[in-house]
Amino acid sequence: MSGAALPLLAAVVVSLPASAAAPAPAIGRRGMVVTAHPLASQAAITVLKRGGNAVDAAAAAAFAIGVVEPFSAGIGGGGFALVYERIKGRTRALDFRERAPLGAERNLYLDNRGQVIPDASTTGHRAVAVPGTVAGLAELVRAGGRLRLAEVMAPAIDLASRGFVVTQRFVDASSGRLRDLEADPGAADVFLKGGKPYQVGDLLVQRDLAETLLQIATGGDEVFYRGEIAEAIAADMADSGGLITARDLASFKPVWRDPLSGRYRGYTVVSMPLPSSGGLLLLEILGLLERDRTWQRDYRDARTLHFLIEAERRAYADRAERLGDPAFVKPPTGELLAPPRLDALYRAIDPARRTPSLGLATAAGGRAESAHTSHLIVVDGEGNAVSLTFTVNTPFGAAVVVPGTGILLNNEMDDFSAKPGVPNAYGMVGNDANAIAPAKIPLSSMAPTLVFRDGKLVLAAGSPGGSTIPTTVLQIVLNTLDYDMDVAAAVAAPRLHHQWLPDEVWCEPYALEPETRRALFARGHTLVVREPWGNAMAVRVLPDGRLAGAADPRGEGAAVGY
Ligand code: GLY
Repeated sequence: MSGAALPLLAAVVVSLPASAAAPAPAIGRRGMVVTAHPLASQAAITVLKRGGNAVDAAAAAAFAIGVVEPFSAGIGGGGFALVYERIKGRTRALDFRERAPLGAERNLYLDNRGQVIPDASTTGHRAVAVPGTVAGLAELVRAGGRLRLAEVMAPAIDLASRGFVVTQRFVDASSGRLRDLEADPGAADVFLKGGKPYQVGDLLVQRDLAETLLQIATGGDEVFYRGEIAEAIAADMADSGGLITARDLASFKPVWRDPLSGRYRGYTVVSMPLPSSGGLLLLEILGLLERDRTWQRDYRDARTLHFLIEAERRAYADRAERLGDPAFVKPPTGELLAPPRLDALYRAIDPARRTPSLGLATAAGGRAESAHTSHLIVVDGEGNAVSLTFTVNTPFGAAVVVPGTGILLNNEMDDFSAKPGVPNAYGMVGNDANAIAPAKIPLSSMAPTLVFRDGKLVLAAGSPGGSTIPTTVLQIVLNTLDYDMDVAAAVAAPRLHHQWLPDEVWCEPYALEPETRRALFARGHTLVVREPWGNAMAVRVLPDGRLAGAADPRGEGAAVGY
């Protein structure tokens, strides 16, 4: 349900201090792990204690998330990671995002009248893009880990074979996709109990998944992309009208990319480059905010928020118009972030009035639904850090499990623009730049982020939430750097979001004082109160070197210091 509109609440919102609900951050001296599930955090801590570094521990946590939070992310999906190696003083970005199968074509999800076929890009075998998680995590461990893949995967294998206790988030996610899970025998077999959703307190054992993970642990990613598992995926696709073939799997390769980096008030903000739009959105919005010389340091001042909203509107318009897989579309990153362009965009913001979105670009309006993805952060005792976001896209992805493997497949094809101007599951619109093509990567919003000051890591952050990811990360950065909140308060603080279309400001309950709401309304903004969104994770490196971590109180995650 996260992200649903609550129009009636708009009239009854009361004001609370931003940090009222925030618990104290967890503190660590030799390491910090923050993930969306306590058992995944524990998996990472176990690996750190066995001599693993941040990379090993992050991979361990990611494999474990695929077991205990399967509706969000797992080995049937893909994602992005930023890896900071302190000794080398460098950050690298790994893109293990899913790719379109070679058999995909531009009008894949249109009927013969050119209309988008409902659910075609979100449910069933044809919605699945070639998974990248196994290749990505294996590459991370190969390139920067200290332990063997089998050691890193041991906690996840244990969790899959012994089972874990189901919580409310799992029940909500599976109840929300019940019809789709029922329709796929593989998915019903794993994720339903006698055809009904598991209940809180039930033990969910995933024997097939444990066996699959064991095969990968011993045979490496080769087994997944060229071996027995690849054969099982390709056979299931062929049987069920899916597009992924053995050739698609065999040709999957994760890509190391130069991260995107920019300055903000003396800090260096490093985030994900294309094919995620997350880093670019973050840096473009920060670039515009930095130009506001009369920036109000008062938290949630109406004028400041107006500039924030107008900056977001302009950055998201660029996303819809210009961004796509850099292998297919000349990346406009340098042009979009060029100082003279940001100067001009900034000057065009009217301090007294909203700029209507359709004056900036042209497209149809959007809708938005719940979002599930998972972010995790590990910082080790040597100061290395990994900030990793991965996903199967919407809850339970395509709601397809490859029979006999326990692998839940993504529906990442929905992140393409099925038809220019028609919104996807996140209400995002796009055009040719993000149209479907064989082997193309769908545009993402994921934004694993690291912030440095004078070459030293000061903050790591990231979140799920589809289109809201960049603005969630942005607000954690602002809350921490501009408003001096501790990391737990920065993560807990109520959020706002504007994504160009629909032309409305989404507000979490308690995000705005009544007077601020009135001031924004007077500038022409439409404010819509929605259920809380995101499930952010953040780590702050304190001036004395200790690590402060926080998992979002909107989720069930855990920050564990070591
Ligand atoms: N699947 C959501 C995203 O990549 O932004």
